[in-house]
Amino acid sequence: MKRLFEPFYIKHLKIKNRICVPPMVCYNWVKEDGCVVHKNIEHYRAIARGGAGLIIQEATCVDPEGKLSKDQLGIWEDRQIDGLKEIVGAVHEEGCPIFLQIHHAGVNGSGEYLLCPSDYEMDKDGEKRIGHEMTKEQIHKVQDQFVKAAVRAYEAGYDGVELHGCHRYMMCEFFNSRVNKRTDEYGRHPEKFALEILERIKKEVPENFVVGIRLGAFEPALADGIRHAKILEKHGINFLDISYGFSGEDKPEAPKDFPYKDVIHAAGEIKKHVSVPVFAVNSITDARMAEDILERTGVDMVDIGRGVLVNYNWAIDAREGRNTGRCLHCKECQWRIDAEKCAGRVLLNRKRNTGE
Ligand SMILES: Cc1cc2nc3c(=O)[nH]c(=O)nc-3n(C[C@H](O)[C@H](O)[C@H](O)COP(=O)(O)O)c2cc1C
Ligand code: SF4
Repeated sequence: MKRLFEPFYIKHLKIKNRICVPPMVCYNWVKEDGCVVHKNIEHYRAIARGGAGLIIQEATCVDPEGKLSKDQLGIWEDRQIDGLKEIVGAVHEEGCPIFLQIHHAGVNGSGEYLLCPSDYEMDKDGEKRIGHEMTKEQIHKVQDQFVKAAVRAYEAGYDGVELHGCHRYMMCEFFNSRVNKRTDEYGRHPEKFALEILERIKKEVPENFVVGIRLGAFEPALADGIRHAKILEKHGINFLDISYGFSGEDKPEAPKDFPYKDVIHAAGEIKKHVSVPVFAVNSITDARMAEDILERTGVDMVDIGRGVLVNYNWAIDAREGRNTGRCLHCKECQWRIDAEKCAGRVLLNRKRNTGE
């Protein structure tokens, strides 16, 4: 595991290994006020203790109207800062840096009136969603909310923020020209929405505060993902965490003989065109695979998501050569319903208790 445990830097920030815990919303924990509860603090403390090099905290909403679910953490008002500070304090005490993912759900939201760059209809879990084309005023209001959220994240002590720019949410809706059909400058330049937010955040926070993005690789094609990555780098983005974009309106691709997910291949392709750190994600199940991906693709970090939900100590166990457990890829992840019922976690604990 030569590369997996090799330290590196994102800007000034030293990262002790190449394992990043990506953002994962803890459903059913938080009330409608979006404020941090005790369980959130203990969850992140335990993850930090588990030895990862970096944590990116779950999607935290910049606008109460832009939540993906009613029980999502929020950063739309100052009174939410104190709770967030407690998460940061707990994680820093364990010697781990933490970024906050800032998010607006757009047409994928849970509110009554859903915003989207253009009028757009989609089906989500059998339910029809209608996104309403945003006015320029609405665009500027949401951009403002992202900038204010980043400033609050800085005040709460985070080491940086990650703009949520993928997974069918608002920023991704702007990037994807099959969803964003505007004829104004926000449609002619699909990256403009994100770039303006990035540039404004940079002006509001000190130089050493990290600002990265979770970006769709296929938006709709890999060539678009590469183009967006290059433009973002030119405008000062500090890292690129590459995931799926607006699925259903994308054209994923990878060589037939590539042994991992197409999105991991895409992260490697993007890395060939930029010099900022690039992260790869999706279904990385064990340390050997993680090492091979670092080696084969040239990316800088691997995200271990559900693997860490199964086993908070994934990174330490990987380093010590122990069984890290594995996500069983349940039809519906129980962490979206009742985390106690995570099948991978139950299996790992049983094996450990019985010495199987
Ligand atoms: C319960 C759950 C919540 C998630 N929440 C987020 C989120 O808040 N933001 C995000 O960008 N991705 C989110 N994801 C996606 C993960 O960050 C990750 O990309 C995905 O699980 C694939 O990686 P893995 O195979 O290592 O789990 C979530 C995934 C799960 C299982
Ligand atoms: S509930 Fe299933 S899919 Fe979710 S982390 Fe656990 S084993 Fe993986």
